[in-house]
Amino acid sequence: MSLSLYVHVPFCETKCAYCDFASWAGRSGEEAAWLDRIERELGLRGKDAAEPLFSVFFGGGTPSALSDPGLERLCRSVADNFRFQSGMEWSMEANPVSLTPAKLAIARDHGVNRVSVGVQSFEPDLLRRMGRAHDADQAREALDLVAGSGLRWSADQIFALPGQTLEQFLSSLEALLSWNPRHVSFYGLTLEPGTEFWKQHEAGTLSEADEDLYADMYSRGVQLLSDAGIRRYEVSNFAAPGDECRHNEAYWDTRSSWLAAGNAAHGYEPHLRWRNPRGLNAWSAWVDAGCPVKDVAAEELGADERWTEEWFLGLRQAQGVDISRLQADFPDREILRDRIARRIASGHLVVEDGFVRLTGDGWLLLDAIAVELSG
Ligand SMILES: C[S@@+](CC[C@H](N)C(=O)[O-])C[C@H]1O[C@@H](n2cnc3c(N)ncnc32)[C@H](O)[C@@H]1O
Ligand code: SF4
Repeated sequence: MSLSLYVHVPFCETKCAYCDFASWAGRSGEEAAWLDRIERELGLRGKDAAEPLFSVFFGGGTPSALSDPGLERLCRSVADNFRFQSGMEWSMEANPVSLTPAKLAIARDHGVNRVSVGVQSFEPDLLRRMGRAHDADQAREALDLVAGSGLRWSADQIFALPGQTLEQFLSSLEALLSWNPRHVSFYGLTLEPGTEFWKQHEAGTLSEADEDLYADMYSRGVQLLSDAGIRRYEVSNFAAPGDECRHNEAYWDTRSSWLAAGNAAHGYEPHLRWRNPRGLNAWSAWVDAGCPVKDVAAEELGADERWTEEWFLGLRQAQGVDISRLQADFPDREILRDRIARRIASGHLVVEDGFVRLTGDGWLLLDAIAVELSG
């Protein structure tokens, strides 16, 4: 239905203690070689693009960690190799420590129209514990900058951090509201194998937030944003009406397609998913070999996977699963109405206007309910 582009930038100022994304600190010396290769890959992807792009997303990693000329080269390469739909959305992720007025100007001048800033928290102790590259003042300065830029913008926070109290989370979220954001993302901490937090957990020096605290933080956070007119449109994403991230929405719609460039980037078209090599060295060697299709981990999605995916992607969004569309796409499958009815009775689901939607504490049971309904 629509075509998007994701570009993965693998550089970061520090490696955060919770993060297992394919990103590294201390490798900025490889930027020039990375740019040569990403330009080459974008040239090839541009030839694959049969239509103008609906959205572009620079993620990572930390796109703002690129040097000024590096960011300019990357933006120019996208602009040179692709056509855009009118009104297309072009987002860039940024870390407060590297988001400067100069970088913002470069991005905007080349077409970026939305910036997503990783704030995580305003609590100095928590920022230190996470190994963030910035302090609370730098986060505030970055928010001043984006809020005054005229661009669309968003900020990320994390909850259920080690030792974080409910009050600390809510006061960080409340502090963020003073910049009048029209988009906020907040994520419950996931302990990812191999991360610093994971090691601390194994060593017994980090304990996870208990279930009740996690649920309280999530529900109170949702309420706080909703009172400010910023509504949940996906389990971790909240926006004022009309300010939803269209690139995210494309990811959650199995009928859209996206091209991907950079290490560990995933591309998709109905019903095929492919994944670029994850490591920077492996990806570099692959680009040097001309991005051979045979070396990309491509996966054809069978009917069972597609069915499961429809439930997971539909339920994570506030709009829910479109029953008539599902029936049209899967005429041979049976919708498990008895299971839906049980979850309606327990207050976890509603059916409205032909959509099955999570409600109440159902949002905290997303995965379990999606497994249950996809049979
Ligand atoms: C690519 S980063 C955003 C941009 C930039 N790299 C930064 O961190 O400032 C994506 C976001 O994912 C979230 N995130 C990453 N790993 C996470 C984890 N293990 N648990 C919860 N949230 C996580 C963080 O909120 C982070 O801001
Ligand atoms: S959270 Fe962002 S800055 Fe931290 S390591 Fe992950 S990608 Fe890099």
